[in-house]
Amino acid sequence: MCGIVGFTGAREAAPLLLEGLRRLEYRGYDSAGIAVTGGGTIRVEKVSGKVEKLCEKTRDGAAVPGFTGIGHTRWATHGAPTDTNAHPHLSNDGRFAVVHNGIIENYAALREELTAKGYVFQSETDTEVIVHLLEYFDTGDPKTAVMRTVARLEGSYALGVLCADRPDTLFAVREASPLILGIGVGENYFASDVTALVSYTKNAVYLDDGEFAELTPRGITVYDCSGRPVEKPVTRITWDVEAAEKGGYEHFMLKEIMEQPAAVRAALAPRIRDGEILLEGFDLSAEELGRFNRLIITACGSAYYAGCAAKYALEALCRIPVEAVLASELRYGDPLIDDRTLLIVISQSGETADTIAAMKECRARGAKTLAIVNVVGSTIAKSADWTLYTRAGPEIAVATTKGYTTQLAVLFLLALSMGRRLGRVDGDRYNALLGDLLRLPKLIQNAIDLNHGIPALAKKYHRSPSLFFIGRNTDWASALEGALKMKEISYIHAESYAAGELKHGTIALIEEGTPVIAVCCNEALEDKTISNIVEVKARGARVLAVAFRGDRKIVSQANDVIYIPRIGTLFSPVLAVIPMQLLAYYVAKENGCDIDKPKNLAKSVTVE
Ligand code: F6R
Repeated sequence: MCGIVGFTGAREAAPLLLEGLRRLEYRGYDSAGIAVTGGGTIRVEKVSGKVEKLCEKTRDGAAVPGFTGIGHTRWATHGAPTDTNAHPHLSNDGRFAVVHNGIIENYAALREELTAKGYVFQSETDTEVIVHLLEYFDTGDPKTAVMRTVARLEGSYALGVLCADRPDTLFAVREASPLILGIGVGENYFASDVTALVSYTKNAVYLDDGEFAELTPRGITVYDCSGRPVEKPVTRITWDVEAAEKGGYEHFMLKEIMEQPAAVRAALAPRIRDGEILLEGFDLSAEELGRFNRLIITACGSAYYAGCAAKYALEALCRIPVEAVLASELRYGDPLIDDRTLLIVISQSGETADTIAAMKECRARGAKTLAIVNVVGSTIAKSADWTLYTRAGPEIAVATTKGYTTQLAVLFLLALSMGRRLGRVDGDRYNALLGDLLRLPKLIQNAIDLNHGIPALAKKYHRSPSLFFIGRNTDWASALEGALKMKEISYIHAESYAAGELKHGTIALIEEGTPVIAVCCNEALEDKTISNIVEVKARGARVLAVAFRGDRKIVSQANDVIYIPRIGTLFSPVLAVIPMQLLAYYVAKENGCDIDKPKNLAKSVTVE
């Protein structure tokens, strides 16, 4: 979703802002703009469309001279993606420019109030009220104007503010929307996420909700909402520039698929020492774990599907009831939660608005929270009682791949650790399952290597108007993720069903040639899934099965088979998803889709 960058220093700001915006493109956006101060005025340039167009318009920034500026990529919420609605927005007197990520919930009332005071609105955005409030509260001290403005805003916002009278000063404000400060030498920055900062600095300060910062080339001061300075720790960014670049791959998505063996290794290996699982801070005793009589997993999209897959492992190994609930449903569901509930919150970005809200709701009802998050210092990571990072590194493609498999790896590690501590997994089973986990990185590599035939399969399936993904139990969870991958990047209608459920209605849609992807990696239920394969084939379906290498039964039933290496059922979703990621990728490529930035989607969904 929207991305924000800011720069102040001794170099020309515009080229650096444009470069920062390029690095934020993956978040999803539909217009872009920059504002730079110089000579007592603010110059704004913005376009609907891509950052590339903004680069052309500004001659790569040369047409917008000045050493301090802000930039923005907008994902439209209030008002269409037009030039006028693009950020930055300028105050009527031209003294303030603002970029904003989030939603101002009371904007309609503020707009009415400001219009009555004579302020003229140019755009349909909620953001524009902010810049007029700044002008309204301005008495010559921009810091006070920022504080007074923020006090009037309701909703979520990360703001970057530029003031014509202070050509070497920027303000950055955070409330329920990510914003990170970067500390350089003789120059300072802010951005929505570290990918826009890593090529300039590795030193970052994470703003907390209700804080704002004043940046000049000489330093950064962080204040609380009443203007008192706050001491903030400087965090060293561990991601490097290469990690946020394509490294020779045609798309980030393919690169990230290929990175999965290393990413899963980074998620698992450092947490396993001498046969012991070490979960930073969450190494609770049997007695402490025994307090929980219920686990609820909440998340959105693929992270929710990771939760659906993990539910089986958590229940099997811990023998505690587990429920996976979509965050957007949980937040308004009046859930039965108390202090004996452990809420497991899963999020790659750590900034998903629905997930944050569900987490808040459950905490208010007494639940303890364990976050499984990739982005260090993100809102969810910081607000949970315990946080386990997935250590996937930057995920740039909008469709998650290594984000998802590292979530699974950490969840399975958690299930095994909890089951052992609770005394519900004996030593032999523990050692066997730990062995499975340790083999995962190698097995993921095998799953990738086994599937060099997928580009050819994609040519067979890419014209289908509709695809069905079926499976039972753990395989159903994998099928859910497989279908989501397919639809979001190839734009082909794809539906996932519990295999036994098809005949209760959906089988009516199966006709001659309808592709059905059948996940058959749960050996105990394979015969049952094969019966469902037979049923759909009898109605003309073309079946592509995902199965373990060496599975002979499936060969005679399916039209095509893609293989993964053998592993125990509980952890099989990590491997089963690999060929489905590749299939979605190559089908999307056949169809000429914008794979890394699918239409209508954003990487980090920071609005409800
Ligand atoms: C799908 C995808 C989304 C995210 C969802 C949650 O490929 O990436 O479905 O999984 O938006 O995002 P996070 O994990 O950042 O909370």
